Amino acid sequence: MTKSDYTSLRMGVDYYPEHWDRSLWEQDALLMKQSGVALVRIGEFAWSRLEPREGEYDFAWMDEAIDLFGSHGIDVVIGTPTHTPPRWLTTKYPDVLPITPNGGVFQPGVRGHRCFNSRSLRRLGERLIEQLAERYAQHPAVIGWQIDNEFSMLDSQSEQATEDFRDWVYRKYGTLERLNQEWGTVVWSGEYSEWNQLTPPLGGSPYQNPSFLLDFARFQWDSIVDFQQGQISAIRRHCPDHFITHNFHSYPQRLDLYAVGEELDFASFDYYPNTSPEKAATSPYSGALSLDITRGIKRQNFWIMEQLSGSPGGWMPMWRMPQPGYIRAYVWQAIARGADTLVHFRWRSATVGAEQFWHGLIDHSNVSGRRLAEFVQTSAELQRLAPLLGQTSPKAQVAILMSPEQLEALRIQKQADSFDYYENIKTYHRVLTKLGIDCDVIDWRQPLDAYQVVIAPHLYLLDDEVAERLSHFAADGGTLVTTARTGVKNLQNVCEMKLLPGLLADCTGVTVRDYDPLGSDIVRLDDREGEQFACSQWADILEPADGGRTEVLATYGGSVFFAGEATITRHEFGRGETYYIGTHPEESYLRGLLLGIMQKVGIPYIEGLPASVQVSVRSGESGSYLFILNLGREPRRIKSLGAYSDVMRGEGLLSGKLYNGHEIELEPYGVEIFRLIL
Ligand code: GAL
Repeated sequence: MTKSDYTSLRMGVDYYPEHWDRSLWEQDALLMKQSGVALVRIGEFAWSRLEPREGEYDFAWMDEAIDLFGSHGIDVVIGTPTHTPPRWLTTKYPDVLPITPNGGVFQPGVRGHRCFNSRSLRRLGERLIEQLAERYAQHPAVIGWQIDNEFSMLDSQSEQATEDFRDWVYRKYGTLERLNQEWGTVVWSGEYSEWNQLTPPLGGSPYQNPSFLLDFARFQWDSIVDFQQGQISAIRRHCPDHFITHNFHSYPQRLDLYAVGEELDFASFDYYPNTSPEKAATSPYSGALSLDITRGIKRQNFWIMEQLSGSPGGWMPMWRMPQPGYIRAYVWQAIARGADTLVHFRWRSATVGAEQFWHGLIDHSNVSGRRLAEFVQTSAELQRLAPLLGQTSPKAQVAILMSPEQLEALRIQKQADSFDYYENIKTYHRVLTKLGIDCDVIDWRQPLDAYQVVIAPHLYLLDDEVAERLSHFAADGGTLVTTARTGVKNLQNVCEMKLLPGLLADCTGVTVRDYDPLGSDIVRLDDREGEQFACSQWADILEPADGGRTEVLATYGGSVFFAGEATITRHEFGRGETYYIGTHPEESYLRGLLLGIMQKVGIPYIEGLPASVQVSVRSGESGSYLFILNLGREPRRIKSLGAYSDVMRGEGLLSGKLYNGHEIELEPYGVEIFRLIL
């Protein structure tokens, strides 16, 4: 197996051989094979079984499990087990345990009790991983590795983290004078005169120096990257042909997704869309965003390393069971947005441990039922369509910029009640998704050449590099959409003494004369046709630049003293144009605005997509494939979108019925896939 094989379209399951009696393994592997399971992920929590006592390794059970899967033609991905250091280790090397901001110890017993800065953890973890890598490098069934499990920032303030933080700050600033200057520590007598006075943010109060808090977060993110790198190097030394990935989860995470992704071959995501009926209107859209974010981590296709298989529970009261068709529909949603391989969590519900009620494909009874049957059907469909869909991917002309630094800085200093960076990104993304527009969500520092429209919400921290890139993008003919709270600070989290939007004032053709942090208060917004909308969160009062090239698209209305003042503008800049949205308008206004932009630029969109129906395209050398998904409980109808052949139902792969000008019926959780006929 070479690295390129991770682009195959196929399905697998997460399996924990160490949780089950040995007598079950054989029948599990057999049933997996019959069910269309092409691969399993194992091992990611199994440290106490792989190394029961320090330096005493036991790989016999893993050999046996991997051989067994191999003998059934099932590939294996090994997870490195550093998410769960065993008790012998945490007892003998307590530095492994994170120290919480209030000085408490994050005790073992649940999981995730590992301080990324702990040298014992790195040393013992890498030693074990090195052994695993050496042992399974040549095993024909082993294809790749998952590093740790679901990274997130822990705020660990251990002694080692303190020492590493000082080094990190020293490397960044060099002298205490410069540090004091850049962080503005003069406020409240926070100046440092000796390096040993510098500690992590003890106490965890958010009311500390914001520059210090942001740098501490960046330091923690770098620590995770370093921690991961030790493992990657150990694996690559022995397994140059194996892939390495990590399973990201639940956005937004306080984590530099892009830095973690850099050394990985591809990103993976753990996808648990919410099954509750009251989330039905929002969950398919936040799910779509999560998938697009994951694709954006490396700007390429990705895997789902854990996919919902039954009612989640255990960490909370159980969610509703997935309705018939739900499991299949969400598999296809992930594929439509760029997933190639999907691994279902988990094969069978656990009978022991904390996650007994996070349901797998098979229930505790071990009697297989409806959910496994749906997996079998979906896997068969995927195998049938893999020759067409393999090597295709979504190709968007619109991008939304995302930044872990903005997220963190806006968490440290919330700008107004109800103003939420990630929720606002969700809104823009949802508006595009409801218009059937494919959209990439990428790191704010990425090149923008591939796009015609770039939406850059709340670039609160801004530097010359990004400001110039965005300005060039617009000057060269792109359309740039910026919003309130742009250019407020430099990267040290220090306010700029500039008229907002600071470094983007020229490019946007506006300045902010005044602002009102509206919070949850609603203000009227009037468009140029006199139509009235609502806006909230924030109100920038805009001053269009002289020279007449800035057009006012909307003003405030109603009884506020700034009624009649500009809130949304459009500016011609070079060969392109820029929009500045100085408030958070209700969704219907944004829909009209973005639709107008797409019409102008010539990006296709669909008006009137019914609620819960999502449409997206994957394309490549084999053609362009349109996915139409009904992610809701009600049947829906949509008008066909051109000339397509039905590949989902087609008898030969490329035969099937032509749809042109017909209506397509979508059953609840219905999935249709068409190939564009040119
Ligand atoms: C994920 C995790 C899995 C399992 C699953 C269900 O977050 O990686 O190990 O716990 O959730 O809770």
